[in-house]
Amino acid sequence: MLTTFQAVSKGYELLVSDKVASQTQTWLEVQQCTFDMETKQGYRRILITGIPNGALYRLQQKFPANDNNKSLYKAVARLRDALERRCWKDILQLTAQWPEALKKDSWCYLSIKEQQVICQLSAEPLENENQLIHGDCLQVMPTLDSSSVDLVLTDPPYLVNYTSRDGRSIINDDDDTWLMPAFQQMHRVLKNNSFCISFYGWNKVDRFMEAWKRAGFRPVGHFTFVKSYASSSRFTRSCHENAYLLVKGRPEKPTKPIRDALPWKYTGNTLHPTQKPVKILTQLIEAYSQPGEMVLDPFAGSASTAVAAWDTGRRYIAVEKDVNYHAIAQERLSRLGQPA
Ligand SMILES: C[S@@+](CC[C@H](N)C(=O)[O-])C[C@H]1O[C@@H](n2cnc3c(N)ncnc32)[C@H](O)[C@@H]1O
Repeated sequence: MLTTFQAVSKGYELLVSDKVASQTQTWLEVQQCTFDMETKQGYRRILITGIPNGALYRLQQKFPANDNNKSLYKAVARLRDALERRCWKDILQLTAQWPEALKKDSWCYLSIKEQQVICQLSAEPLENENQLIHGDCLQVMPTLDSSSVDLVLTDPPYLVNYTSRDGRSIINDDDDTWLMPAFQQMHRVLKNNSFCISFYGWNKVDRFMEAWKRAGFRPVGHFTFVKSYASSSRFTRSCHENAYLLVKGRPEKPTKPIRDALPWKYTGNTLHPTQKPVKILTQLIEAYSQPGEMVLDPFAGSASTAVAAWDTGRRYIAVEKDVNYHAIAQERLSRLGQPA
């Protein structure tokens, strides 16, 4: 028979043939798992009720689930991991994207005790580390701890004195005195071996590059976001936006790097005159951070980065100086159920 490993209501069930029973037993003992073994006709049923930290991963690697319920087992295992940390926020973020059926099925696989822990955690007030701050990022960032952020994803003013057709403008778009100190702060609060992604205005690339390099960042990639329409037309029809991928230290290369040319979807700029599409931001966040990690956007505008961070199960700190855009961002986040 094939070896099977699956989540059951009391823990995990492992079915193995008689031949490999004794070596499996030794392996589980070495992993310090708690289990009971039952002899069945031609095979053993091992009910594993206690798995120390880290051993679940090794179990899943050794006995990959081999039936159609693989994604359910994976979901239950991740839920149990979050439960072990007693972290309601992790549980919320983990399950935020799950279809209702998966939520219900995984609930049935939890033991009564685990279900009770979930009920208990959900009743406690949620300490929300997600923050939308109204203020000048040059004053806010110095209040953040050094090396406390896992990814900076930001869309600063492009230094082009922009005014949209309907008359909306952007604070600090006509002045670059903030540029160097802002990136110095971003570098300080970012953890070592991590990424900073910054949009920029192509005709001011020299000033941005100087600020990035002097702050300590090293460019390792460059993104072009291709628009199906022209946002302006002068010597060329402007059909793209750009961002640099910068690093602090030497982060590991992703096993599957994402494309550096990505399609742009028009947002309508209804919330902000230079509103970025959330889809693009989620792709960047997923490529350069892990679930549960902290994403910082010091130039938040309408909070598109914060929305993308929430959508991908990351935490966020977003700072916006303009009182009107801050109010729009606040309203937008509150629609996600986020206190802002
Ligand atoms: C290019 S926009 C960001 C738009 C945003 N990506 C979006 O999708 O809505 C830059 C934002 O930075 C804000 N800003 C400019 N200087 C700032 C500062 N010193 N601190 C915080 N925000 C600032 C501007 O008000 C503007 O909303």
